[in-house]
Amino acid sequence: MNSSDSNGLFDLSVTVNGTPVKRTVPTHLRLLDFLRDELRLTGTKEVCGEGECGACSVFLDGKLVNSCLILAVEAHNAEITTIEGLATGKKLTRLQQAFIDHHSVQCGYCIPGMVLAGENLLRGNPQPDRDAIRAALAGNICRCTGYQKIIDAVETVGKNQSQHTKSIEDNR
Ligand code: FES
Ligand code: FES
Repeated sequence: MNSSDSNGLFDLSVTVNGTPVKRTVPTHLRLLDFLRDELRLTGTKEVCGEGECGACSVFLDGKLVNSCLILAVEAHNAEITTIEGLATGKKLTRLQQAFIDHHSVQCGYCIPGMVLAGENLLRGNPQPDRDAIRAALAGNICRCTGYQKIIDAVETVGKNQSQHTKSIEDNR
């Protein structure tokens, strides 16, 4: 920390969804509250506030984290991606589109965290099987869907990736 004052404030610099942001924030402010209340990025949700449900997931320097467990000042000079920053303009990611195609969303409250957890898995394991998907989403709780259609969406992206890779190899 380089700019904390005796009033418990901190001059925070952070890049959020590709945009540099500077704010003076209380040193005790959670990253979740900074995103939702200061920046109005309300796609990041709060349910448990204790690191148990995954609804508050964001990428912090490329690592999936629970923003309810992190102070905003811990993100100083870091890059954050929230669900609002995942798509490129109006072009959804393959996984976002797969959630729509598989009707994977009911109330939607868990979905930002689910999508980010799924994206995180696919970055490290582009063709995961269902067990790997279940394991990767184990930290994300959904009260509505029974999980199967969410798993279907992630699995489909992996299978499509597999077919895409195969057709490239066949054409060599
Ligand atoms: S609100 Fe952060 S893990 Fe539940
Ligand atoms: S869709 Fe409602 S909590 Fe998951």
